[in-house]
Amino acid sequence: MDRLCVRGGQRLSGEVPVSGAKNAALPILFASLLTAEPLVVGNVPRLQDVATALRLLGQMGVSSRREGDEVTLEAAAVSSVDAPYDLVRTMRASVLVLGPLVARFGRARVSLPGGCAIGQRPVDQHIKGLQAMGAEIHIEHGYMVASAPRLKGARIVTDMVTVTGTENLMMAATLAEGETIIENAAREPEVVDLAQALIAMGARIRGAGTDRVVVEGVASLHGASHRVMPDRIEAGTFLCAAAATGGSITLTGAQPAGMDATLEKLREAGAAIDCGPDWIRLVMSGRPRALNLRTAPYPGLATDMQAQFMALNCIAQGAGVITETIFENRFMHALELQRLGADITIEGNTAVVRGVPALSGAAVMATDLRASAGLVVAGLVAEGETLVNRIYHLDRGYERMEAKLAALGARIERQPG
Ligand code: EPU
Repeated sequence: MDRLCVRGGQRLSGEVPVSGAKNAALPILFASLLTAEPLVVGNVPRLQDVATALRLLGQMGVSSRREGDEVTLEAAAVSSVDAPYDLVRTMRASVLVLGPLVARFGRARVSLPGGCAIGQRPVDQHIKGLQAMGAEIHIEHGYMVASAPRLKGARIVTDMVTVTGTENLMMAATLAEGETIIENAAREPEVVDLAQALIAMGARIRGAGTDRVVVEGVASLHGASHRVMPDRIEAGTFLCAAAATGGSITLTGAQPAGMDATLEKLREAGAAIDCGPDWIRLVMSGRPRALNLRTAPYPGLATDMQAQFMALNCIAQGAGVITETIFENRFMHALELQRLGADITIEGNTAVVRGVPALSGAAVMATDLRASAGLVVAGLVAEGETLVNRIYHLDRGYERMEAKLAALGARIERQPG
């Protein structure tokens, strides 16, 4: 297994391009199942999760072709409606095939994802919503087996805000008979990006980006082309890394709209930030100030930024309280950060981080994607060498992270294992 070797202490400086958003690209790739005509998706990042999505679609009979950052998919000859366990367990977003398959083909057999390193993450809301639209779903040998003649519009109130739940139901509703209303919908920019792709395919959706999404079902969708939005979590990760190292960087191809919570927190930490429509510049001098933060559904602070901010707090002046409200087990990185000398006390879903003047490099183990990102941020400021093991997690969601950081002056290299 590859690992990253980081020699900390370099201030990051320079310009870095932001890739397409993983969490927008994945649902949009799966939306190709909704039509027999070609869907052209631009700005698709080169990530392990994208490869997994294309593999799953390929197994179903969807053809895909990549040219540069553009992927063309065609689901004209779907031969299987199965999403097998070995793929779903490596990438939970695979459950996003459920809605499109039931809507277009009237059936699907999708593995339940099982447990996860950051929390339980059930998919009961996806099931409940599709059942409200008339699908019959039962669990058989670890699989959700779904059937429906044609889905019918329904009013669905989800028990909690769920991003992929909203996306699955929104996709299903595009081909249902009549109107579907999703209340308590996720407002994440990635949901809006998916809605825009679906609208380009002929779907009738309004309210995406609010907590009430209304979908008027149509008989069929058609081909379209859509460019994936920039990745706000990748952007936020680079900004945290620059802030931690007292650096000065410019992100290009970014979308600051949609990053308010992250940018506000970085300003509170002492960073000077300027933005244009598609760029963000951060300049940090001196040690960051410790932050109190609480993760929340959008527009609150993304749980996907929590580990990176925790790393920043580790070397900040003062103490900060971090409360994780989305996933019940998303502090695994704290124990690894302690190996670097961080002073962190955890009580339930709250972590108190007392900043220390310096971290010291050590071998650490990544447990999930964003935890890995947090460890890399910490490694960039730690004295000496930090070895981040199990970076297959990072490869799932960051495009060429070590190359991008190296271009900003970081001493970082991949060591094949
Ligand atoms: N939940 C349920 N039942 C459901 C669905 C969700 O109880 O049917 C709970 C979850 O257990 C969690 C909360 O609701 O406590 C919110 O989970 P959500 O469904 O919003 O998460 P997700 O859709 O599975 C997406 C991202 C995650 C990101 C979360 C929260 C994708 C592909 N994944 O997951 O991204 O952390 O939203 O913003 O969009 C990552 O990129 O590293 C990542 C984990």
